Amino acid sequence: MVLTETTQQPAGSDFLREIKDSPNQSLLPLTATVNAQDHLEIGGCDVTELVQIFGSPLYIMDEHSIRTGCAQYRDGLANNYSGQSLVIYASKALNCLAICALVADEGLGIDVASGGELYTALQAGVDPKKIYFHGNNKSRAELEQALACHCTVVADNWLELKTLAELAPGKSPRVMLRITPGIECHTHEYIRTGHLDSKFGFDPNQVEEVLNLLRNTPSLDFVGVHAHIGSQIFEREPHQDLAGVLVNWLKRASELGLPPQELNVGGGLGIRYTEADDPPSIGEWTATVAQAVEQACQQAQINLPKLICEPGRSLVGTTGVTAYTVGSCKEVPETRTYIAVDGGMSDNARPITYESVYRSLIANKMSQAGTETVSVAGKHCESGDILIKEALLPPAEPEDTLLVMTTGGYGYSMASNYNRLLRPAMVLVHEGIADVIIQRKTYQDLINHDRLPERLSSNPSTTL
Ligand SMILES: Cc1ncc(COP(=O)(O)O)c(C=O)c1O
Repeated sequence: MVLTETTQQPAGSDFLREIKDSPNQSLLPLTATVNAQDHLEIGGCDVTELVQIFGSPLYIMDEHSIRTGCAQYRDGLANNYSGQSLVIYASKALNCLAICALVADEGLGIDVASGGELYTALQAGVDPKKIYFHGNNKSRAELEQALACHCTVVADNWLELKTLAELAPGKSPRVMLRITPGIECHTHEYIRTGHLDSKFGFDPNQVEEVLNLLRNTPSLDFVGVHAHIGSQIFEREPHQDLAGVLVNWLKRASELGLPPQELNVGGGLGIRYTEADDPPSIGEWTATVAQAVEQACQQAQINLPKLICEPGRSLVGTTGVTAYTVGSCKEVPETRTYIAVDGGMSDNARPITYESVYRSLIANKMSQAGTETVSVAGKHCESGDILIKEALLPPAEPEDTLLVMTTGGYGYSMASNYNRLLRPAMVLVHEGIADVIIQRKTYQDLINHDRLPERLSSNPSTTL
């Protein structure tokens, strides 16, 4: 690895200095280095070469970082909790065959939020006993799909319980209850309320009623309670509070003759998107959660349930990056310079949707200091298609490889084909080997599901 001295402004290689042991606390994947060509390497692969081989834009996921995060979650719960525990990956963050198979190989289960995510997890070979099916409006067909594979259904509302009860005879589906706990987290603040204005889960004042319904519906196998209080959370207190709330509900279930088996605290641990973000490590977070649940169970005098957590972003967010190729440049005098790349809001919807902020570097000029603050623009017909409003970069030229960091979570999974751009490929890199885990879409893919009515196809100008 070649590291140059910091000049007046940080260079791309300076991002390497801040890599920590917990993947969620670093802007770059754990394996990031700079090679003799002054190029960024991830997983032993030269990022600029990857783009030459597999095309641009390109999603790059680092296997070592994902495995490390999985192990830290798994061992963090196991070492701090006296009962059984299970980590389930919230696959909405990035759902595809290879990632499902990879986390399953680390012993994790999978949380799915649609029939499509469930289908993918099953096709990846994930054990249905470790699959938990979420969603506030699961269709009857999706519930049938869940019952057919015997995964656990996290019931969200009355209609779902009614449908499950209709489908249940002879199947005894495992049912968990999602409850809104009255703990609300947005950004880094949280509040406790009696009720929560949320489309998800049962209201806290319905808990008694719903537990009674389950007691009187023996065809449904009640396994426990679940809550998810939000995402990108940096404080530990909200999850400590949540532990107490969930344990009280389990105690009530137990009093009603529904012995508690499982308690699921959801996901939500934050990641570092910029230098301002300072989330706890996975180890610190799991220790806090495990100790809080154990303590609350002791106080409530109930047996320890199986403790489950379901991280998404903190397992894949910082372990993935997107590499683009620089194209045109536009200088607006005394205002700003736009550096355009060959992707944009179709491969990363978060900046335009949530005004999310990202960091970038030029992967083939790692030692060059940032000299100018520019805007990194996408190529969509949309003025708001700006990936980064203020990026401090060295002088960028056409054909440079511009890398946006921390795009592994909710990047590909929220991608679209807007403007009929082709969805990028994704590679999984490990010890110098890059495997394509998602192929780039082709123009033919774009029209595969289009249909041209006969009366239009007779027009010579539209004949294919
Ligand atoms: C029910 C549920 N569990 C887990 C997660 C994962 O959250 P995160 O990616 O913040 O860890 C989410 C995200 O929205 C969720 O809705």
